[in-house]
Parts: sequence; C-alpha cells; structure tokens
Amino acid sequence: MTTVNSSGSLTVTDNRTGKTYDIPVENGAFKTMDFRQIKVSDDDFGLLGYDPGFLNTASCKSAITYIDGDRGILRYRGYPIEQLALHSTFLETAYLLIKGELPDKERLAVWSYNIHHHTMTHANIVKFMDGFRYDAHPMGIMVGTVGALSTFYPDAKDIMNEDSRKLQVRRLIGKIPTLAAMSFRHSMGFPYVLPDNDLSYPGNFLSMMFKMTEQNYSPNPVLERALDVLFILHADHEQNCSTNAVRAVGSSGVDPYTAVAAGCAALYGPKHGGANEAVIRMLMEIGSIEKVPEFIKSVKAGSGRLMGFGHRVYKNYDPRAKIIKKIAFEVFEETGRSPLLDIALELERIALEDDYFISRKLYPNVDFYSGLIYKAMGFPLDMFPVLFAIGRIPGWLSQWTEHVQDSDQKIARPRQLYLGEEARDWMPIESRPRNRMDEKKLDICRL
Ligand code: ACO
Repeated sequence: MTTVNSSGSLTVTDNRTGKTYDIPVENGAFKTMDFRQIKVSDDDFGLLGYDPGFLNTASCKSAITYIDGDRGILRYRGYPIEQLALHSTFLETAYLLIKGELPDKERLAVWSYNIHHHTMTHANIVKFMDGFRYDAHPMGIMVGTVGALSTFYPDAKDIMNEDSRKLQVRRLIGKIPTLAAMSFRHSMGFPYVLPDNDLSYPGNFLSMMFKMTEQNYSPNPVLERALDVLFILHADHEQNCSTNAVRAVGSSGVDPYTAVAAGCAALYGPKHGGANEAVIRMLMEIGSIEKVPEFIKSVKAGSGRLMGFGHRVYKNYDPRAKIIKKIAFEVFEETGRSPLLDIALELERIALEDDYFISRKLYPNVDFYSGLIYKAMGFPLDMFPVLFAIGRIPGWLSQWTEHVQDSDQKIARPRQLYLGEEARDWMPIESRPRNRMDEKKLDICRL
C-alpha cells in the first residue's frame, strides 16, 4: 500500500542527559507521546513536539484520500481523481468517499433517491435566513444556517448510533445546495426556489440558484456536468484546514451539523476558500495580455504573489488544475470566451518557462482556473467559497465518520510551549510599576 512506509525504530540520545531511548516507528511515523518519557529530571514534564500549523504532524490515520504532492497524485479511496472526474458523478463520488467503495447500480439509485429526498429544509429555516442583512456574505450565512440545522435535528447528537449518523450524512449532502442557493437569493432579494428532485444534483442546484419565472428550469448540460466535475475535484483533500476543523470540533462529541459548520467557518477564510476569488481580482487588475510580463516581473520582485500558483502539498502541477483547465475551454464554448481566460493562459505560459517559478516548484493549483468557470456560469465572486463547501461536504462527512469510529482518537487538545511570565503576585492598581514596563509592553497596554 502506498500510504504505509517502513516500520522499525529510532535510537535517540538525549545529549542533555546522555540517556538513550528506543522509539518505535510504525507506518513511517513515531508517536510523539513516546518522547514524553525523555526528561532531564523527575519533575520535568517530558519532551514535546513543536509544530505550528501541523507541517509535519499526522493527526490521524486515514483510509480516505491519498496525495503525493511531488508527483501530482490525488486519489479518493484509491481511485485516481482523473478517472473519477471522467467517469463518475458527484453523488457517486460522495458514496465512494463515505462508504469506501463505488456503488453498484442498485445502491447508487437508492443513495441518489435518499439524497434527493433530503433537499428540502424546515420552513423555519426560511425565517432564519430572512434574519440576515440584505448584504450578508453568503458564506457567513452558510456558517450560521448549517450550524442552526443541529437545532432542527436533535437526534443527530446520537453520534455513536450508526443509523443516526447515516441519516445526518444524507440530510447534510441533500440540504447543503438548498442552503447555498437560498443564501445567494437572499442577497439578491429573489424569492427562494424549491428543490426539483427530477433534476440531477448539480442541475437542481443551478435551478435553485438561477430559476426565474419559467415553469421548468432546464440546466445547460455542459454547465451542469462542469459543475458536477468541479464538485468531484473539491470533494476531499485529506487533512486540510477545514477538514481539520471538522475533526477537531467533532472530537468533542458534538453533532455533525455543528462540526460541519466549523468546516464552513474555516473555508470562509481567504487563505483557504477564497483563493479563486483572489485569482479573478488579480486577472481583472492585470487587465490585458500585454501587461502580463510586467506583472510577472513585479511578482518576482516581491510585490505580491501570483494567485492560483503554488501549493503547500503539490510541488508539481496540481492534478485538479489540469482537469479544470480543460473544463474551462468547454464552458467558454457555451458562455463565450472571457478575456480573463487569455490573461490566465498567458500568465501560465510565461510562469512555467520562468526560472523563478520553476526553481520554487510553483505550478497552477485548483484555484487558477476554477474561478473563471464559476464567473462564466454567472456565480458572483462571494459565492465561490460556498461552491467549495458544497463540493467538500462528502469529504468532511467521511472524515468525521472515520474520526468518530477511530478508537485511537481523543478530544483534540494540543499542548503549548508556555513562554510567558513566571508566577507573580497581584498588586493594587496604585502600586503597579508602570515605569518598569519595557517599551513593547507599554505599547501593548496603550489604549
Ligand atoms: N507567487 C510567487 N511566489 C510564490 C508563490 C506565488 N503564488 N507561492 C510561493 N512563492 C514563493 C515564495 O515567495 C517563496 O519564495 P522564497 O523562497 O524566495 O522566499 C517560495 O515560493 C516558497 O513559498 P512558501 O510561502 O514558503 O510556500 P508554501 O508552501 O508555504 O505556500 C501557498 C503555499 C500559500 C499556496 C503559496 O504558494 C501561495 O501563497 N500561493 C498563492 C495563493 C494561492 O493560490 N492559494 C491557493 C492554494 S490552494 C487551496 O488552498 C485550495
């Protein structure tokens, strides 16, 4: 199996004491708890690992998604993303992520029926939605409404009950597009559109987004399929920021609606769900192909980054970006070509030949072309993270389910390295030694 590395042990010598320890290695990792025994004295707490942002710490064992960033590989449950994007639907991919295997025809039909029959929301959600200001960001609305779902389904608290878990999974995958479309229509002042269960999952979402006065909404099949593939490409990405949030909040034993609301909250941040919007803004700012060389020069000189390029994990072409680039051409055939696409193509061409980007292994990531597609389809920029959330929902739920069933897991509670003051006594206000504060502290205390 590709994910399992060699096992064995480490011999660690603590140069502070001269003592030697044997630390087991399993699956290419050691347990940081095994380092706790390494102490300089009996009252020493023991050695901790320091790893802000978890750059080199595995927080779980997982059998869901495999990434090899150096080789540009992404697989869900062993299946290459390229094959899923070519042959599967989003709902089938969601089944795969959650259940671990691709469904047969009968199982897929039951699964699709079950998801489609959970697309309606309780009527009180409409009142809840109406409480948001007219200009509320749709992603802020998602954080609130997904969290609010937990109050509608108190049975979801029974997280150790498998039947209950399965029901909440179906409800969440079914209702997320409905909430997403409602958040958009609320911001536009349009009446909400009820789900149409005769349409496909992405087709129904497009209907709830864009249906106006027509009796029946017929989605453009090219755009419908493009959206489905984009959802597939976003469906999981192992322990990213929002998935880690879902697992960490879920580790407290809370219901999945609340845990998924935490995932939405993480995705709201510009460093996670907002990069494709930043790409569009960058392309608009560049304005024309002629200005691309000048822009690249300014990036190399350190004034800003080439948005949609580079990735913490991929040090090769992001496999999702290749697929998305192809979809972009298909979508533009339908919607008419955007001049922003030509700017993007020129940026990519120049960057991929430039030593600055080559030497740093900076390639287009998933966000480089996805925003262009969403924009061409008519989605406003602030809906981009919401679209990401719809795609990511099966990933969050499969990771949450795996976490709940993992007997190794405990409530997420990292340690810290305390570097603050030693114990000191409280003083009455008139005798606090202000003049003894250093400049930095005075600055912090300034009102
Ligand atoms: N444009 C120009 N230079 C870049 C870029 C970029 N997009 N990304 C990285 N670099 C340079 C850095 O300046 C640094 O150069 P240096 O060694 O001379 O200092 C070097 O490449 C390494 O950069 P890091 O920030 O250390 O790389 P890291 O892996 O931490 O960052 C990240 C990854 C945050 C994605 C970064 O590449 C970036 O900011 N990209 C643009 C934003 C973006 O597209 N984000 C979406 C990511 S995909 C997602 O989250 C869904």
